[in-house]
Amino acid sequence: MNTTEAGQVAAVVIMAAGAGTRMKSARPKVLHTIAGRSMIAHAVRAAEALDPQRLVVVVGHEREQVEAHLADVAPSAIIAVQEQMLGTGDAVRAGLAVLPEISGVIVVTTGDAPLLEGQTIVDLVAVHVARGNAATVLTAVVPDPTGYGHVVRDGDGDQIACIVEHRDANEAERQIAEINAGVYAFDGDRLRDGIARLRDENTQGEFYLPDVVALIRAAGGRVGAHEIADYQQTEGVNDRVQLAERAAEMNRRILRGWMLNGVTIIDPATTWIHASVDLAEDVTLLPGTSLEGATSIARGAVIGPDTTLVDVEVGENATVVRSQATLVEIGPGATVGPFSYLRPGTRLAASSKVGAFVETKNAQIGEGTKVPHLTYCGDAVLGAGVNIGAGTIFANYDGEHKFVSHVGDHSFVGSDSVLVAPVTIGDNAFIAAGSVITHDVAEGELAVARGRQRDIPGWVERRHGVATPAAESAESGDSRQEEAK
Ligand code: UD1
Ligand code: CA
Repeated sequence: MNTTEAGQVAAVVIMAAGAGTRMKSARPKVLHTIAGRSMIAHAVRAAEALDPQRLVVVVGHEREQVEAHLADVAPSAIIAVQEQMLGTGDAVRAGLAVLPEISGVIVVTTGDAPLLEGQTIVDLVAVHVARGNAATVLTAVVPDPTGYGHVVRDGDGDQIACIVEHRDANEAERQIAEINAGVYAFDGDRLRDGIARLRDENTQGEFYLPDVVALIRAAGGRVGAHEIADYQQTEGVNDRVQLAERAAEMNRRILRGWMLNGVTIIDPATTWIHASVDLAEDVTLLPGTSLEGATSIARGAVIGPDTTLVDVEVGENATVVRSQATLVEIGPGATVGPFSYLRPGTRLAASSKVGAFVETKNAQIGEGTKVPHLTYCGDAVLGAGVNIGAGTIFANYDGEHKFVSHVGDHSFVGSDSVLVAPVTIGDNAFIAAGSVITHDVAEGELAVARGRQRDIPGWVERRHGVATPAAESAESGDSRQEEAK
């Protein structure tokens, strides 16, 4: 494995100003995400592997959006503005304009190649330095080179003579399957010199950065290639078909990484894991599971099938079945689902249970507490060992404000109760089924808050006479019993 010394690279320039026309999107291309991360954030992470002295991002199209995002993901990046989209050569000119007259290695990379790994750029720079090149181009042989710049090698194949864009290429050049990845290491002075001499005489009337290669050669510089076998790292995203293809490939790589680290993934084809997720050994993911954001899952937990977790922390040996959760903590041994909807601020303590068709929000569910069926539990603090009966509603909203209710340890809330917040139920209390609780219940009390059952003998017959179906069937049942005797 090659390494670069910290600071060996004077600057990295990431080109991210293009309009991304082929995406047909109001959102700038480099802000589209893959594995939960924008493409520009992937490019920044790869560049950071070089530990460059300076990191420049060239922005232009919809630059306010891109700059706001960079303030989040790359606060130390230097922003360069390309005023008009005159091509990748012009983008690098804009990038160099914000740098002092530094010499040394300048790496240029692209904002739209999300699979590119940091180590690959590190290797590129190592090759560049070892060979004494003036420029080194990252290349790969791809199955379909349509749309890329084709790499024309010199007679002995050791150097690159020039790069011809697909649109400008002749038939023979279009057959060349080795493509320019859009990632380069340059000697800084040679790059400046080449950029200054670029012309825009091509089918698009743009300044092409790859034309610098031929200019450096003409000026007597060596231009080499660093060709990689893992061609998918070099593939870019220009439209949404490629966005989906690159996303699927990155997902395959992420899943493979986790499987090799001890995670069982039953169906990789339907499992999606963001780059930011953290999984322990012996986690099991069932089909249709999607793990997003800052989700982390501890040892022995089983997630899925058909479950989406966003920013969720799952404890050891917990299970989550056919459920959706966002910004939630699920304690060790807790069980969730099937069909639970856990909204932000839900915290399940160890060995607690949230069951079928239960919705929670901003709810603390104590150790061993059970909310098994058909309940809305919003703005609630439940102690340990509580049982919430089927169909209980925590009525937390009066139309204007939200209030919190508390249920003490080992209390029992009977089925079909409504707790009108704010109420506090003490420890070891008992709420009778069907109660509407509007004020506090003290420790150990039974609260019954519903109409008392009345039984009125003969009411049906008096109201309808004997001819009702119920009365008739009662009669005939009786007579059959008589016959049987
Ligand atoms: C470019 C290369 C091509 C290479 C391919 C690899 C050129 C002329 N061609 O083609 O040889 O095979 O990448 O993916 O460089 N950008 C700017 N300002 C501009 C134009 C583009 O910042 O004026 C940025 C874009 O935002 C993008 C990158 O440069 O991140 C590449 O631009 P794009 O238009 O996608 O170039 P390709 O046609 O893919
Ligand atoms: Ca591209």
